[in-house]
Amino acid sequence: MKKYTSVQDVDNLEGLVQEALHLKENPYKYKKLGENKTLGLIFLNPSLRTRLSTQKAAQNLGMNVMVMNLDKEGWALETKEGAIMNGTTVEHIKDAAAAMGQYCDIIGIRSFPKLQNREEDYNEELLQQFITYSKVPIVSLESATRHPLQSLADLLTITENKPAGKKPKVVLTWAPHIKSIPQCVANSFAEWMNQADVELVITHPEGYSLADEFTAGATVTTNQDEALQDADFVYVKNWSSYEDYGKVLTDGNGWMMTNEKLQKTNNAKVMHCLPVRRNVELSDEILDGPNSLVLEQANNRTYAAQAVLKRMLETM
Ligand code: CP
Repeated sequence: MKKYTSVQDVDNLEGLVQEALHLKENPYKYKKLGENKTLGLIFLNPSLRTRLSTQKAAQNLGMNVMVMNLDKEGWALETKEGAIMNGTTVEHIKDAAAAMGQYCDIIGIRSFPKLQNREEDYNEELLQQFITYSKVPIVSLESATRHPLQSLADLLTITENKPAGKKPKVVLTWAPHIKSIPQCVANSFAEWMNQADVELVITHPEGYSLADEFTAGATVTTNQDEALQDADFVYVKNWSSYEDYGKVLTDGNGWMMTNEKLQKTNNAKVMHCLPVRRNVELSDEILDGPNSLVLEQANNRTYAAQAVLKRMLETM
């Protein structure tokens, strides 16, 4: 595997899921594989789970890890080709990424969208430039449009918890938030579930449709009650509008998941990628209750990352 930026980079999804579950049972079995190999983790945005779980995954494989908060600790980056750099930017990304490629065998990068210009965000300029200029395998630690390590961890969690003998019904439901949030997690979850053996239903208020490239094949409805009927899993997530790009269109009153809403489901397990705004996106009663899978998802982040890094190391 030369890059891991979306489900399209995975040639055998079920094989990758089984590999990650095998690594969960045997985390140190491949400790020699990453010996004398270095993973560089580059963050342009905050992180708790991605940062720690990916470091742990690399350490389980015997890799060295370097972490840099590029937004705070690096030079101000220029991304425009041919720029005359007589302003505030100090280093061109083609030089920075190429230099990092000299120190690292694999690079992970997190770069959120700015949510101001949809075309710019959805072009994934920064991620693409790292792929082009670093010349080493790249892992997305969450980009402008997707969060593939989270989605793999989510699929592991569903695989481990699905009811026996039936295709699970998985509902992705929009939830309220106080600010404008990227579509990445929702886009990515929809894209991955569409490739998995599940029935996917997406529900959100008017004006919050995700891009077709991620949702095609899923049932989409603005009726949350209808969507929740007989659900086996409910994935809760806020996102800002894709159509009216980056905008918050409603306070979302009535959309927060509660135990009362869970009554409509097939005693559904409830998922969220975290961090979560308690009692805004999701109620305490659910997060602290028996149906919550949020810590299992967080734990599975390690084995998702470990399976991806292992695939990359095996091609070196
Ligand atoms: N879910 C997730 O990516 O968490 P962090 O933003 O804390 O890494």
